[in-house]
Amino acid sequence: MAKTKTSFICQNCGAVYTRWQGKCDACGEWNTIVEENAAGGIGGGPARARRKGRVASLLPLSGELEEAPRIVSGIGELDRATGGGIVRGSALLVGGDPGIGKSTLLMQAAAALDRNGHRVVYVSGEEAVAQVRLRAQRLGAASSGVLLMAETNVEDILATLAEDRRPDLVIIDSIQTLWSDLADSAPGTVTQVRSGVQMLIRYAKASGAAVILVGHVTKEGQIAGPRVVEHMVDGVLYFEGEGGHHYRILRTVKNRFGPTDEIGVFEMSDIGLREVQNPSELFLGERNDKAPGAAVFAGMEGTRPVLVEIQALVAPTALGTPRRAVIGWDGARLAMVLAVLEAHCGVRLGQHDVYLNVAGGFRISEPAADLAVAAALVSSLSGLALPPDCVYFGEISLSGAVRPVAHAAQRLKEAVKLGFQRAVLPSAGSDLPKSRDVLTHEIETLPHLVAAVAGGEGRS
Ligand code: TYD
Ligand code: MG
Repeated sequence: MAKTKTSFICQNCGAVYTRWQGKCDACGEWNTIVEENAAGGIGGGPARARRKGRVASLLPLSGELEEAPRIVSGIGELDRATGGGIVRGSALLVGGDPGIGKSTLLMQAAAALDRNGHRVVYVSGEEAVAQVRLRAQRLGAASSGVLLMAETNVEDILATLAEDRRPDLVIIDSIQTLWSDLADSAPGTVTQVRSGVQMLIRYAKASGAAVILVGHVTKEGQIAGPRVVEHMVDGVLYFEGEGGHHYRILRTVKNRFGPTDEIGVFEMSDIGLREVQNPSELFLGERNDKAPGAAVFAGMEGTRPVLVEIQALVAPTALGTPRRAVIGWDGARLAMVLAVLEAHCGVRLGQHDVYLNVAGGFRISEPAADLAVAAALVSSLSGLALPPDCVYFGEISLSGAVRPVAHAAQRLKEAVKLGFQRAVLPSAGSDLPKSRDVLTHEIETLPHLVAAVAGGEGRS
């Protein structure tokens, strides 16, 4: 018998070491390295290495497709995030914190696909069949033809699937419970997760059934991270939400068959997740027009415009080093906007604490929010509220210039739809159609914005 070889594998990123150590050099996490028996892992084992190559066939790129390449659930927000439906034969990873609603979302998706005539198998490794049924009942999906399996061994799952007619979609909830006879380490470790996922992906490619894999993510990295399987799958979706808020965002991080910047927005209710077709209305829900320090940003998420309120609080500091706290935006970009305000506009914030919050717990990654952030900061510092019917967007460069951003027309259209009548935006040189619905104020540099805010322009 071959001598078993153990190695030490980081459960967060999958880096392999020959000795144990407290900190992973690759990802910087502490206490994530665990001893595993690597000989039985994928690609390991001398017997497999000596196998003679089998002749595969070479095929032309153009060929007949047998059936519709995508399966569409009819849940608009989900189909949007997957880029128009789940591609047959592909593997998708749905990650998120425990308890965020992954199982709920996928059960609803399964029921919706079943209504559209697709055959769906839901494999639950975490919950017993009775629990899954109970949840389905609550979601009003109990009468659907979705097939259940409570199994965690990959070989058993694949054997069961091979028994019957090929399903259109297999949902595996979750990859952390998977284990395979081929790998010797304990269930839940990187080696097990990786080999289980690899077998399921192979099944998807060979059979043409789509596979959705659920993976828990924890900040501590104690659970074998979905990170290690991200590169193996065709698409990665993260299901996010802020504690205390009811809405959830399904964010596309990777998609081999569609765009990656799309989001789907849902609201968690007592009967499951509800689609939110107009997120702007949700994020602008409880707005206090009169308060200084709040600016409405006309943003874009993928192909969809989203209006959110950016709130700033600037207050004299009692500390030696003033505080800068940011929720929902990038701290480094805030530092940059503050530096530009100081250097080019004479707005001194060195003796002030600055707090910045994106309302509703939404997260913005666009640089186009610079202008709205600057407006909120200046408004808070001066104590002058911004006009309540105005939106802001534009990127600020280090020179203090305000640079144009993409999709200006779409942003304006959304603002008009929600009753806004003014917009402060970069002078784009300008390909914008002149509209009578919205009064545009084009600005070239940041000092222009500061003058407009401090001058009380547009307030009644
Ligand atoms: P779940 O889908 O089990 O989360 P995950 O699979 O990501 O761990 O969702 C669990 C949470 O969702 C739980 O805290 C209760 C809540 N929930 C509702 O608010 N309404 C519902 O109809 C359901 C089914 C769950
Ligand atoms: Mg779950």
